[in-house]
Amino acid sequence: MEPSSQGLGPLGVSLFEKKLVFVTGKGGVGKSSVTAALARLSSQAGLRTLVCEVDSSGDASNSLGIEDIGFKPKNVSPNLYAMAMNTEEALAEYLRLNLKLPRITTLGPLARAFDFVANAAPGIKEILIVGKLCFEVREHNWDIIWVDASASGHIVSQLVSPKGIAELVKIGLVKEQTDWMQDILSDPVQTALILVVTPEETPVAESLELVARLRTETSISLPMCIVNKVFGEPFSFEESQIFDEIYGGDLRERFEAEVGSSAASLLQVSRLSSGLRSSRARHTTDLLMGLDSSISTVFIPYFMGSENGVRLTLEMAEALVAELSGS
Ligand SMILES: Nc1ncnc2c1ncn2[C@@H]1O[C@H](COP(=O)(O)OP(=O)(O)OP(=O)(O)O)[C@@H](O)[C@H]1O
Ligand SMILES: [Mg+2]
Repeated sequence: MEPSSQGLGPLGVSLFEKKLVFVTGKGGVGKSSVTAALARLSSQAGLRTLVCEVDSSGDASNSLGIEDIGFKPKNVSPNLYAMAMNTEEALAEYLRLNLKLPRITTLGPLARAFDFVANAAPGIKEILIVGKLCFEVREHNWDIIWVDASASGHIVSQLVSPKGIAELVKIGLVKEQTDWMQDILSDPVQTALILVVTPEETPVAESLELVARLRTETSISLPMCIVNKVFGEPFSFEESQIFDEIYGGDLRERFEAEVGSSAASLLQVSRLSSGLRSSRARHTTDLLMGLDSSISTVFIPYFMGSENGVRLTLEMAEALVAELSGS
């Protein structure tokens, strides 16, 4: 496809040229919604797109509006497929492809043996996840894979797993396998990680910590941070001043009698949301100060009343197009 023909600016174009994009952030910040929105956009732009949900919590089904996503990619809409990672099935596929073992029909005994090994040797489950994703890239099965990745903490262990295993096993098949995975993961043209954060104290602090860890422990490219659930300012400066006069002085009772108690409560709520926005703005400033200038920031508003997954995905996709257009 020609991403530029979609009206995307350089940031959007270079993002849509990637092969593998991890979307991560603290729990609940909007990883699944953002992943689904980006995947909708890339599929609409004509890219053969895969969404891979790593911690199968079912969020992807909700955001994409389809049921029962499994290990085998399921078609969602033209050019758009979704799968849920499953380490046992990834292992069965690996054994079948690499060791030429016959198709394993029942996963039961394998799953038990696998659990035993995986719990004894750290990094096994992680490398199966990353290995499956890198395999899909190497085989050119998709134009782009968006990974609805694990929350902040786990993503680092997944990304470093090929290096960790390579240090344990220095020769032979395993070594060869980890080398090409590391090549894909550290190639900024093919692979990237997008951080999603909400303008709140803990998500901002955790995101900055995560960036520091990713910088020291991995060589993954970090082109973009998406600040999600940003509140718009409901009042102008002059309007806020009128509010302060009413609520700060002795006009309150008269005002409430005048407008009625329900209207007064509504205005109070709006004022509260305005205050919340100011505190969020402070956390956004902290975030921007903490991120190095090589990471672009993109803002997505808080969509009131968009509890329906697909509706939110569409609104988010529209906001992302606006943000990724232009420079
Ligand atoms: N911009 C937004 N405006 C309004 N609601 C939003 C927005 N982004 C996400 N949400 C809502 O916030 C909740 C969490 O979003 P989502 O499931 O995408 O987050 P997540 O990071 O994937 O969460 P988890 O860590 O549990 O997987 C959902 O109910 C979603 O509908
Ligand atoms: Mg999620």
